[in-house]
Amino acid sequence: MIFIDACLKKPTPYTPVWMMRQAGRYLPEYMRVRAQAGDFLSLCKDYKKASEVTLQPVEILGVDAAILFSDILVVPLEMGMDLRFEKGEGPVFSDPLRDKAGLDALSIEKSTKNLAYVYDTIKLARENLAKDKALIGFCGAPWTIATYMIEGGGSKTYAICKKMLYQNPEFLHQILEKVTQALIFYVKEQIRAGVNAVQIFDSWAAALEEQAYFEFGFNYINKIVDSVKAEFPEIPVIVFPKGISGYLDKISGKFDVFGVDWSTPIELAKAKLSPRYVLQGNMEPTRLYSKKAIDEGVDKILSTMKGAPHIFNLGHGILPDVPVENAKYFIKQVQTKSAK
Ligand code: CP3
Repeated sequence: MIFIDACLKKPTPYTPVWMMRQAGRYLPEYMRVRAQAGDFLSLCKDYKKASEVTLQPVEILGVDAAILFSDILVVPLEMGMDLRFEKGEGPVFSDPLRDKAGLDALSIEKSTKNLAYVYDTIKLARENLAKDKALIGFCGAPWTIATYMIEGGGSKTYAICKKMLYQNPEFLHQILEKVTQALIFYVKEQIRAGVNAVQIFDSWAAALEEQAYFEFGFNYINKIVDSVKAEFPEIPVIVFPKGISGYLDKISGKFDVFGVDWSTPIELAKAKLSPRYVLQGNMEPTRLYSKKAIDEGVDKILSTMKGAPHIFNLGHGILPDVPVENAKYFIKQVQTKSAK
């Protein structure tokens, strides 16, 4: 698998490429299957349909890896929180986590059992995926998941989480620790079900100042990485802490690949982290609106990363109104221009 070879710094015939949120609303084929399922969460829970949409980007675009179709928030959902996805509003937890009773009510044991649909999705997707394509599993980072659990949904200020961080840091640590334990089991079970690599998404890393980020954010990512690597040293682990270009000097751990978001200049990430880590990224996702912008973005990133270990990706998820034709064009350009 060219994607896995690249994760492990082995030579590859070209730079492998996939896109965050590649199985999603810009694909009419995805919209069709989602409509059959009813809504987004029902689609995640239907392992046959979830595995079908997992494979769509490989079939339609020719990406080098499929990513499990699910969501980072199915873990708190299956620990016992009430989650719904509102149109135009994103995820909503109707009874946010604010106190000890709320935390005690969450069950790691329950989540391990209730998440069986994810493992079934993986088994079926891996069975139907070409042997030379990788299947990526994933989880959210404890900090990012906790922001949704505590705030009750998306947030601009993270004021409730941060009030907890400065007024009752021990309690925030207890929440993060419990979520981390659930995620360690979850990721290992994904590997046992058949994923070839895992990515940990820390989308809201940039909400925290440096010292707080390493104490409440990256520290918990590394607990997951350490535990996964101790049991599965051959499985590549990708971390994606979004928006922390100012903190790169302090990044370290046993992960293999560092996901560079689009706001971090790839030259900077290269200077600080390469070749210690393989870099993944980081084209600005809205470049997909124009073929000329795609050409410029691809050329610049490929020339910066020439000779250094690299996996191509967007610097965050693809947006729902991107033309499929442009997404195809992007994948093809990376694969042909990087051919050795
Ligand atoms: O990347 C993939 O194709 C795999 C599937 C995947 C989804 N969510 C499907 C999804 C992955 C890896 C995620 C991760 C995820 N989920 C993150 C981290 C990555 C990131 O984007 O920063 C976060 C923060 C979430 C939480 C979440 N899920 C939000 C905030 C939303 C609503 C925003 C939106 O884009 O609508 C979701 C919904 C969601 N997750 C959709 C998809 C395809 C859209 C649901 C739909 O079909 O309407």
